[in-house]
Amino acid sequence: MLTKKYIGLFLSGVVALSTTSCKDSHNDTGTEFAPNMYHSVAYEPMTQTDGELNTINPYGMNMRVPAKGTVARRSFAKVQGDSVNAKLLQMDLISRNISKDDMAASEAQLSNPFAATEANIESGKVMYERYCQHCHGEAGKGDGLVGKKYAGVPVYSSDALKDINDGHIYHTITHGKGRMWAHASQISPADRWKIVLYVHELQKQ
Ligand code: HEC
Repeated sequence: MLTKKYIGLFLSGVVALSTTSCKDSHNDTGTEFAPNMYHSVAYEPMTQTDGELNTINPYGMNMRVPAKGTVARRSFAKVQGDSVNAKLLQMDLISRNISKDDMAASEAQLSNPFAATEANIESGKVMYERYCQHCHGEAGKGDGLVGKKYAGVPVYSSDALKDINDGHIYHTITHGKGRMWAHASQISPADRWKIVLYVHELQKQ
């Protein structure tokens, strides 16, 4: 008799739970069983569960607010005016809004923030030796050790490439082109522009 009563209670509990707790909608994710399994105990920057507001940071956020006096990247270029750093940021912002399929936009809108001084060309050369030479070769003839195996690496001084401009080369390094892979993740924008200066030197050879 007692067991029956408990089974009855248990069953009505199951029915109640299944009708109330398991509906999920955008605003109500339902009742969670063992939430410590899927809510990280660590302070994750991007996740925050209701009722566990961070008691240390302002607004209950896990992320910190930027330090006082921080200037938004977007307005930094304006703040700095005409300096090389400002131009570098402006070009970076323009370039980020150009899709990888839009070579023409890069050719038209981008220009090199760095002047072709001896020092800048020299740093470009160092980066070229590190990131490009194994395919494109010491003199940009497409005959690097990897280039020989990789095949199809073009000659910079060829008719097709001798006149390509800074934006074109920057776009190629950033997004890759055809069989060449993108290098944006491993070369900073400043170094990419300096490599562009050095590629121009090789175009003349
Ligand atoms: C793994 C080999 C490899 C590496 C590394 C490499 N490239 Fe290339 N690159 C290629 C190949 C292959 C092509 C031909 C792409 C195509 O049209 O299919 C190419 C094409 C180019 C072109 C011509 C783009 C055009 O409009 O046809 C430029 C400029 C260029 N690379 C510059 C660079 C620079 C600068 C670096 C170093 C940051 C670099 N490449 C690193 C293989 C490489």
